[in-house]
Amino acid sequence: MTKQDVFEAYDQYVFPTYTRLPVVFVKGKGSVLTDIDGKKYLDFFPGWGVSNVGHCHPKVMAAVRDQVSKLIHLPNNFFGINQAKLAREIVRQSFDGKLFFCNSGAEANEAAIKFARLFGGGERFEIITTLNAFHGRTLGALAATPQKKYQEGFAPLPQGFVAVPFNDIKALLAAVTPRTVAVMIELVQGEGGINVATPEYVSAIRRLCDDRNLLFIADEVQTGLGRTGKMFAFEHYGIEPDVMTLAKGLGGGLPIGAMLARRSVAHLLQPGMHGTTFGGSPLVTKAALGVFEAIRRDKMIANARRIGLYMTERLKAMQARFPFMVDVRGLGLMIGVELSVEGKPVFDECLARGLIINCTQGRVLRIMPALNVTLKQAVKALDILEKVFTVTAQQRTI
Ligand SMILES: Cc1ncc(COP(=O)(O)O)c(C=O)c1O
Repeated sequence: MTKQDVFEAYDQYVFPTYTRLPVVFVKGKGSVLTDIDGKKYLDFFPGWGVSNVGHCHPKVMAAVRDQVSKLIHLPNNFFGINQAKLAREIVRQSFDGKLFFCNSGAEANEAAIKFARLFGGGERFEIITTLNAFHGRTLGALAATPQKKYQEGFAPLPQGFVAVPFNDIKALLAAVTPRTVAVMIELVQGEGGINVATPEYVSAIRRLCDDRNLLFIADEVQTGLGRTGKMFAFEHYGIEPDVMTLAKGLGGGLPIGAMLARRSVAHLLQPGMHGTTFGGSPLVTKAALGVFEAIRRDKMIANARRIGLYMTERLKAMQARFPFMVDVRGLGLMIGVELSVEGKPVFDECLARGLIINCTQGRVLRIMPALNVTLKQAVKALDILEKVFTVTAQQRTI
């Protein structure tokens, strides 16, 4: 197929649910993507947070190659070795409890929402979420995503969700009623604009959940697996959530989601209460084991901290030259640059110059390279961004 054939086939046969860019990628290695014309791009937003270990990491490829010739799928009424190993590994790396495996972030959050309903025992069901949160597109996850642009057209949504401003302790406490059962939060809002929860806020959530017997649900779908410079973002705050959801980076590119609930409440989910045909198959769980091995072997978390620091410091230094850079914020390699101008032209110009980033909420550039990105690649990416900002500044003075 030529590039034009691909565009025409999409036009004819695929729903236009995404704003697609006119590029057809055919190969990926680490932080580099190659398109159908052979042009190379630095990918500083790999798979929207999926390819944390870079495209086609050797450990993931070896794991998948090994498994694909043995057993690809196994229904969940049988035991699987890789699922057992992966559950044990996630618990070892986070907190003690039990896992439910599914196929995506939205599904992991659906599992968490259903789990909270069970925890509430029919009397308590309200989940407090935060404004600008993003938890997924299925109806339950969407109800927990209080953004008009995503919810519009899909009413009625499931009931029982109350949204409060992020990082606002007073608003959080004021939202608690006798029906409240959980607080569900991204510790760093991703799609919402790289908003980092303050330590005081997270401590207040933990205290509230302890005092009122609520579940603290941490959506680590985007922050998990080393992204913030720790294996999980909750580690920055010296607390443990009661429920954690994972997806994106967990499968190294293969679709997997997971919900972990702490052991003292794990008994609530009993046979027949929840399920999915594909969840936690031998293939995807083997890939996820490869991801953990890759992160450990290549010391990616330390690298994420080191490169994250370099990029954040350089971006902050750039603010002096470009006053339209309103704020630089983030944790580890989850970096946001808020602009006072529209981000789309910056994004487009970066793409034209061979750099892939993301723009969210209209004015926040989201930069989240793979955790094994090299310093040389980070320097090159910021050189490109600096050139694009120079053009932006010139256009603003014309
Ligand atoms: C924090 C968070 N939660 C949930 C989701 C939904 O994940 P998925 O697209 O795999 O359903 C996303 C996706 O961007 C996310 O960023």
